[in-house]
Amino acid sequence: MKNAQTMPATARLARRARAFEHSPWSAAEGLGDRHPDPIYFGNGAPGVEAQPIERLQWAAARAWAEAGGQLDYGELAGWPPLREYVCQRMTLRGIAAGPDDVLITNGSQQGIDLIARLMLDPGDRIIVEGPTYIGAMQTFDAYEASYLTCSVDEHGLCVDALEQILRESTPTPKLLYTIPTFQNPTGFSMTSERREAIVALCERYGVLIIEDDPYGEIYFGSEPPAPALRSLSERVIYLGTFSKTMAPGIRVGWMAPPPDLLGLLLMAREGADIHGHRIVTRTVYHAAQDFLDEHVERIRAHYRQRRDVLVDVLRAGMPDGVSVSEPGGGFFVWCELPEPWSTDDLLRHAATFGVLFLPGSWFYPDYAGPPRGLRLSYSSLPLDRIAEGGKRLAEATRDFMESRRPPR
Ligand SMILES: Cc1ncc(COP(=O)(O)O)c(C=O)c1O
Repeated sequence: MKNAQTMPATARLARRARAFEHSPWSAAEGLGDRHPDPIYFGNGAPGVEAQPIERLQWAAARAWAEAGGQLDYGELAGWPPLREYVCQRMTLRGIAAGPDDVLITNGSQQGIDLIARLMLDPGDRIIVEGPTYIGAMQTFDAYEASYLTCSVDEHGLCVDALEQILRESTPTPKLLYTIPTFQNPTGFSMTSERREAIVALCERYGVLIIEDDPYGEIYFGSEPPAPALRSLSERVIYLGTFSKTMAPGIRVGWMAPPPDLLGLLLMAREGADIHGHRIVTRTVYHAAQDFLDEHVERIRAHYRQRRDVLVDVLRAGMPDGVSVSEPGGGFFVWCELPEPWSTDDLLRHAATFGVLFLPGSWFYPDYAGPPRGLRLSYSSLPLDRIAEGGKRLAEATRDFMESRRPPR
């Protein structure tokens, strides 16, 4: 028998631990050593200039001053005034909910985790968009979910494909995870017609929808995007966050679940981390009050300018056949190479030109989707770096496609 003292701790891992063996973020950034000054388009976070740090500092001082002896355990669902405030914010997305309908979370990532914790047994089926947000799959992997991937086009999740999945899958999937507005990674948004059709289909088949909406307020046109799915049905778990409109490091988001799930989600939360941070939730409330509307307006212009620079430089420089999206909001431009080129190969080539992105295949279960797409995040880079990075990517793509011409 093996001596227990020499046995590595990793010999006793859970089966699901293989989900934690790969970090896509470090895999892309790791290629940065191929150039002295690489430009990394992988970071989907707000730029520092768009984070209201001074306002948060002021609000934090106020939160601490108020706290007095209030740092005991408590406020499982979150500080009531903040719950009321997020309900006001949700009206911007067409949602009517009261403070007793919501739960404040440590970012929407925790919302995804709590839902998976509550709903998924190993092997349970979940429908995700193809492509979808990597971080959500990292969570679903941890609960050993099994995936069904539904295609997405520039009008959002494809209704016919969803209907086919629902018709053909036995047992019926439990959950649909979707980012209907300025999707990660494509930047595409679902039309109103599709929103209605998808909600109706899921209700018909008894599938619960997780609507992840971190980018819904960051739109570039004069009109806000179509109302949230949650405005159409209470059978939708809505996830909101201050990560993109304020700063991701504060880790404050919220969820509005179907009313009959709330109590169980609260208990799931208690078992996860007991409750959220009592100072930080007050800080976010004070920072947001009488400030966030104007701030969001400013950052819309800030990100729109970044989008314009990136789209212009890519459209001017990319070889024929490469598509470049022009997102109506959010943080991401999505490009597609023509057949038969792969962005997995392009990434290694582009690294030598000093530009890095996340290849489309990584946004699918097991990091193994179709290899034509790529995601560029313009949210955190300065304008001159976006322009230079876009130019480098166009040059790298041209060189890549010319040097590896497919046989006729
Ligand atoms: C679609 C999506 N959901 C959730 C998150 C995580 O958000 P939070 O910081 O609120 O946990 C992100 C962050 O990139 C995201 O793009």
